[in-house]
Amino acid sequence: MRHMLDITDWSIEEINGLMDTADDIIAHPEKYTHAMENKKIATLFYEPSTRTRLSFEAAMIELGGHVLGFSEASSSSASKGESVSDTVRTVGCYADIIAMRHPKEGAPTVAAKFSPVPIINAGDGGHNHPTQTLADLLTIRREKGRLDKLVVGMCGDLQFGRTVHSLMSAMSRYPGIRFVLISPEELRIPAYLRENMRKLGVSLMEVEKLEDVIGTLDILYMTRVQRERFFNEADYVRLKDSYILDPEKLAFARKDLTVLHPLPRVNEISHAVDNDPRACYFKQVLYGKYMREALILRLLEAKA
Ligand code: CP
Repeated sequence: MRHMLDITDWSIEEINGLMDTADDIIAHPEKYTHAMENKKIATLFYEPSTRTRLSFEAAMIELGGHVLGFSEASSSSASKGESVSDTVRTVGCYADIIAMRHPKEGAPTVAAKFSPVPIINAGDGGHNHPTQTLADLLTIRREKGRLDKLVVGMCGDLQFGRTVHSLMSAMSRYPGIRFVLISPEELRIPAYLRENMRKLGVSLMEVEKLEDVIGTLDILYMTRVQRERFFNEADYVRLKDSYILDPEKLAFARKDLTVLHPLPRVNEISHAVDNDPRACYFKQVLYGKYMREALILRLLEAKA
């Protein structure tokens, strides 16, 4: 049975196929309105979410299916000590597919070992967020017309930013990608990811100042400094406003830059940037729903 646990478990051809399906859903939504009739998705969210949970639910509803689930661990039997493995065995009796967000790295992988239905990793701690990556890739492909030969700037919390880890792992498989990593020293990418990039021969440049490199980028992927991953509030307060993209900084960027952010944002992109044609983060939100529709279709077709 297929799951979506880590973006690299899926080949480039499979991911390109999901994007083709999402493009087709956008062009011909009427073809898909009954595709998942009588099917149910369970959204098991042990951590807060707006976009990921609601877009999975909207995706299943737009495919003609149904939704059940919980949006916080405290309202589930996890609060009484139930394990992830028992939870998914139980929920698998009610639903055809499960999307799970969990604060512990690897929890969806454990779930997949016990689940009778496909598991989708909707974000596990500071590790991975593969369906955000699906949204990111579709946005880049639709904006740029390609996923190769791009200079991709990743800015902010690259240590804990699970969306950064998944997107780098995915994009490093397309030819001619160069990453420019912009972060404070304490929030550089984890060592395992740097080693993976080195083994793949991917070009990495690490800098601390956004102003020094913004003019060289095709893509700028801004991220939030994640308060919930810090052990020490003082460190969070010191680092939280390290980068704020505003019209003054954007003036030094290329006219065809694409600005992305997985959201939620706090201060790292000024609202004054939102109407700039280069700001694509709300398109990214919308495309995430279509990619989740494509993924649900693929996983449940594969199971049938
Ligand atoms: N991008 C993202 O994962 O947003 P949510 O936390 O709102 O789901």
